[in-house]
Amino acid sequence: SKEKLSSARLTEATDAFVEQFTASIDFDKRMYRQDIQGSLAHAKMLNKVGILTDEELADIERGLAQIQREIEAGEFQFSVAQEDIHMNIEARLTQLIGITGKKLHTGRSRNDQVATDIRLYLRDEIDERVLPQLKRLMEGLIEQAERYHDAIMPGFTHLQTAQPVTFGHHLLAWFEMLYRDAERLLDARRRINTSPLGSAALAGTTYPIDRHYTAELLGFERVGENSLDGVSDRDFAIEFTHAAALLMMHLSRMSEELVLWASAQFQFIDLPDRFCTGSSIMPQKKNPDVPELVRGKSGRVYGHLMSLLTLMKSQPLAYNKDNQEDKEPLFDTVDTVVNSLIAFADMVPAIRFNREAGYEAARRGFSTATDLADYLVKKGLPFRDAHEVVGQAVAYGIRHGKDLSEMSLQELQQFEPRIKADVFDVLTLEGSVAARDHFGGTAPRQVLAAAGRARERLQTLKTA
Ligand code: ARG
Repeated sequence: SKEKLSSARLTEATDAFVEQFTASIDFDKRMYRQDIQGSLAHAKMLNKVGILTDEELADIERGLAQIQREIEAGEFQFSVAQEDIHMNIEARLTQLIGITGKKLHTGRSRNDQVATDIRLYLRDEIDERVLPQLKRLMEGLIEQAERYHDAIMPGFTHLQTAQPVTFGHHLLAWFEMLYRDAERLLDARRRINTSPLGSAALAGTTYPIDRHYTAELLGFERVGENSLDGVSDRDFAIEFTHAAALLMMHLSRMSEELVLWASAQFQFIDLPDRFCTGSSIMPQKKNPDVPELVRGKSGRVYGHLMSLLTLMKSQPLAYNKDNQEDKEPLFDTVDTVVNSLIAFADMVPAIRFNREAGYEAARRGFSTATDLADYLVKKGLPFRDAHEVVGQAVAYGIRHGKDLSEMSLQELQQFEPRIKADVFDVLTLEGSVAARDHFGGTAPRQVLAAAGRARERLQTLKTA
């Protein structure tokens, strides 16, 4: 095809299949905005150092603005023959403004151009979609934690009833996981925000370019130190995907609990119908599709992380065409994370916790057994002996179908005469949670205080 990126070095036209096979335009056109932004900065810099005249710069600016309008209006003719977004835009620019369009690529290579585009793209996605949705979800968790700061449910270890906790406390545990994810994303963003522009193909360029000027125009925080590293480094993409994989792991854990809690056997929560679907055969069904799907989607992000690590493994310096394979995993990671966060941020504030079901489940599981042991320690028993005594009481309770709090004082005293009437203060679920009244504990007033701190910490999460 005569429109093809031409090389006088090559004597044959590219094989038609190879042209398709090596093209990336179908997916990298998603970076058109960043590609234009990068070209504008590059052109301004070329003008500043005397390589482009004011008129040439004005033509380039006008042409690129028109191309952006064409793309956003859906009128731009993307061509596989032009291989990627960079060549497509440059070819169209030359059509629009003539010979000056061919000067834009002075002192630049697609190698530093694509590295610049991906960094700008990821920075935008973090700022415009990932972090805002993550923060919205975290806000929803704080609100729900406040609403249910005193709603009791069993806490679990080994998925067996362990000790009573509050639903609010459980939700704030989720908040902590997500808070670390936000910190990791912000940390990755610091290294994303380094300018590779001016690295050119690999060695830099013979033109008197001003890399600090383009970096400043593009809002990069620093200029990459080494041109070979500039065109070949994809650590930042791996770091982002790693943060995303951890985030998806957390969402999958939340999903698992939501699915479990929504079951008829638990009935701890009610998911609004709009986040569920029915069954095509079983008329009674209300399936928790949203958390199930998010749980499943964690797998594809793990896969993308492994793809990117493997893509970069053993690559010699500097740029290799392999790197074109970074985009699809990265883009799908962004989309998967953003969509999962949107679904969760919409759903979490609408979850209704069933206080009676949570309370009953905590009562049934001897969840205050540790409280009784602690009570006996305070009456002078060594902890190991207290553990033994309570174990006997629980075995009795199982035989007679009675929770500890349902036994009479006489029944309890057959296991240890030091038990007195004040035991019932610690055997109630309310007494049990209220007693864990320290920083990070499940006492309702601690949960409220933690929710207040969480809200403040959310405010101070900043892009830096
Ligand atoms: N489409 C390429 C990529 O995604 C752009 C850089 C191509 N550079 C090259 N020398 N072939 O990596």
